[in-house]
Amino acid sequence: MNFQLTEEHLAVQQAARDFAQNELLPGVIERDTEQKFPKDQIKKMGELGFMGMMVDPKYNGGGMDSISYVLAMEEISKIDASVSVCMSVNNSLVCWGLEKYGTEEQKEKYLKPLATGELIGAFCLSEPEAGSDATSQRTTAEDKGDYYLLNGTKNWITNGNSASVYIIIAQTDAAKKHKGINALIVEKGMPGFVVGKKEDKMGIRGSDTHSLMFTDVKVPKANRIGDDGFGFSFAMTTLNGGRIGIASQALGIAAGAYELALKYSKERKAFGKNLSEHQAIQFKLAEMATKIDAARLLVHQAAWRKDQKQDFVKAAAMAKLFASQIAQEVTSEAVQIHGGYGYVKEYHVERLMRDAKITQIYEGTTEIQKMVISRELLK
Ligand code: CAA
Repeated sequence: MNFQLTEEHLAVQQAARDFAQNELLPGVIERDTEQKFPKDQIKKMGELGFMGMMVDPKYNGGGMDSISYVLAMEEISKIDASVSVCMSVNNSLVCWGLEKYGTEEQKEKYLKPLATGELIGAFCLSEPEAGSDATSQRTTAEDKGDYYLLNGTKNWITNGNSASVYIIIAQTDAAKKHKGINALIVEKGMPGFVVGKKEDKMGIRGSDTHSLMFTDVKVPKANRIGDDGFGFSFAMTTLNGGRIGIASQALGIAAGAYELALKYSKERKAFGKNLSEHQAIQFKLAEMATKIDAARLLVHQAAWRKDQKQDFVKAAAMAKLFASQIAQEVTSEAVQIHGGYGYVKEYHVERLMRDAKITQIYEGTTEIQKMVISRELLK
């Protein structure tokens, strides 16, 4: 067993760390306050290869492994989780899904510009009445021969307005239940497709989360991913990998808050000595660091299993379950260590605490992760 990162891994980690410090930290509070999508930052990340990290170079990707990806996700998430959710959806859900299951034409047309960040992708499964219960899709994709007629609404879609390429999960044959669902590539601008209201969120406020409406949108058959009826399986398989991305996001949020608390505890004096010299604070730091290390081991294990082409469904769900739980605890403790300063925006930890919550909700709630894990255990 080797816990050592390679030179290449360390280089990716350092590049992501530098980018986060130099390009994301300035303006992060403003973007959060004003709910401003990090357009320029995402463009630069595309140029640096962070938007299609694992995509084969022949489709303009970085050809990197999942370990490199989670290392970069952790560093970016330490500073700005609004940026990292955009990165995660583009890399794990959209690029990965297209590369694995798309046709050559779809890869040429969509994957190539998505892998460079020239275009941004969105993954659209959730609906007003189908979030966790993903088989209950109400959006319909009626088979009309050469095309599908798409009707319905999607909710809480990450990159909802900034995306140009949307993967829509929709029901074609309700009688077949989850085997009658398709995954379709929809382009912004297709007649009948309207981007709806932007959500005013508690956290990840720089990311743009929208509802999407489809009224008689004609989607060519060539835009279906996989065989007829493959859509649900596509969504589940893609989300398995997506959970590694969100687990690394939760890990990064926790680690970012911990690093700030550690630094602050060495600077701030109370009762005649630094906070870090008080045992009450030392115990908090020790617990926070232990939780973060445990989460990192789970995240790296899931990424490693994926790279080794081993079954990683349980490992990914466990990583997301645990990392998202400890992100709540660690960010809350980081605020506590900062005292009153922790409760104001300037010190960053209150934002990290708000951002942490979403990692227990999207790409499967905590309860869904437990369902996935227990199913695997009981198989
Ligand atoms: N991996 C692969 N296949 C899976 C799977 C998994 N983890 N879980 C289920 N499946 C397959 C099953 O094998 C079954 O296929 P077959 O019939 O061919 O055997 C099929 O899916 C249906 O399975 P179930 O009958 O068990 O389905 P279910 O309805 O009882 O539950 C679920 C499935 C695991 C709860 C699933 O609905 C689920 O994962 N829900 C959560 C969805 C989710 O993550 N939503 C978040 C939205 S995306 C998002 O947040 C992106 C973003 O913007 C950041």
